[in-house]
Amino acid sequence: MARIFITGSADGLGHLAAKQLVKEGHNVVLHARNEQRAEEALDKVPGAETVLIADLTNMGETKQLAADVNAFGSFDAVIHNAGVYRASGEEIVAVNTLAPYILTSLINKPKRLIYLSSQNQAYGRANLVKLASDLSRISYSDSKLHDLMLALTVARMWPSVCSNAVDPGWVPTKMGGSGAPDDLTKGYQTQVWLATSNDPEALVSGHYFYHKEQFNYNPEANEIAKQDELLKICEDLTGIPFPYH
Ligand SMILES: NC(=O)c1ccc[n+]([C@@H]2O[C@H](COP(=O)([O-])OP(=O)(O)OC[C@H]3O[C@@H](n4cnc5c(N)ncnc54)[C@H](OP(=O)(O)O)[C@@H]3O)[C@@H](O)[C@H]2O)c1
Repeated sequence: MARIFITGSADGLGHLAAKQLVKEGHNVVLHARNEQRAEEALDKVPGAETVLIADLTNMGETKQLAADVNAFGSFDAVIHNAGVYRASGEEIVAVNTLAPYILTSLINKPKRLIYLSSQNQAYGRANLVKLASDLSRISYSDSKLHDLMLALTVARMWPSVCSNAVDPGWVPTKMGGSGAPDDLTKGYQTQVWLATSNDPEALVSGHYFYHKEQFNYNPEANEIAKQDELLKICEDLTGIPFPYH
């Protein structure tokens, strides 16, 4: 039995992954943006251990969330799932790029880390000059490339941790919309598998998965100089040094 923390688990893929993990007998800690969403999250997954609250657009709340996670106990896996799509560049950066950076840096190292990326990473650019100077110019696709780069960087920096990124497919959640063509169940199964399975295929690090298979991705994500620059910009924007060891 594992203990897993999932960001953005009041709805969509985070909620579905939480429900599945609880069904499989794991301990799950949920996360929601405010009290009302937290109550709703816990009502929908009554077997969860608890729900922690933070609006990820608020950096202070995100930092406090990491402290709350650490105070709750140690975790086998963290799924960085919360995300926004139709939002300003500033909100996209806060929720999709900086919150995973902050939580990765401040939460005590789990054994496994899973970052929700997207097929859209293929159309994104790291756009590091804009990230450092004008957040309004960062797109959803750029931020999903950042998530992938973060997963790969953490895999490189922390060899004892399995750190991977996932494309869940274009699936019918609030974000994906009702007409999304991909399989909703397969949209959360890969995260659940990476968080808990002892299959050798799930115990790898530094990969990008779609439906439990490793996939190719935007080659920009592999550029070490850009990975290092992304960490440095995240450090500057958040005031949190990355714990290299
Ligand atoms: N659905 C797709 O087709 C698709 C495709 C590729 C990648 N993804 C990725 O998969 C992940 C999950 O997406 P989804 O489809 O499940 O989206 P969703 O249904 O919109 O759910 C997103 C979750 O993130 C939470 N969230 C958003 N902003 C937040 C904030 N400021 N503070 C705290 N929580 C916040 C939401 O809370 P509320 O419910 O309170 O808003 C919700 O629980 C995202 O990272 C997304 O980029 C999705």
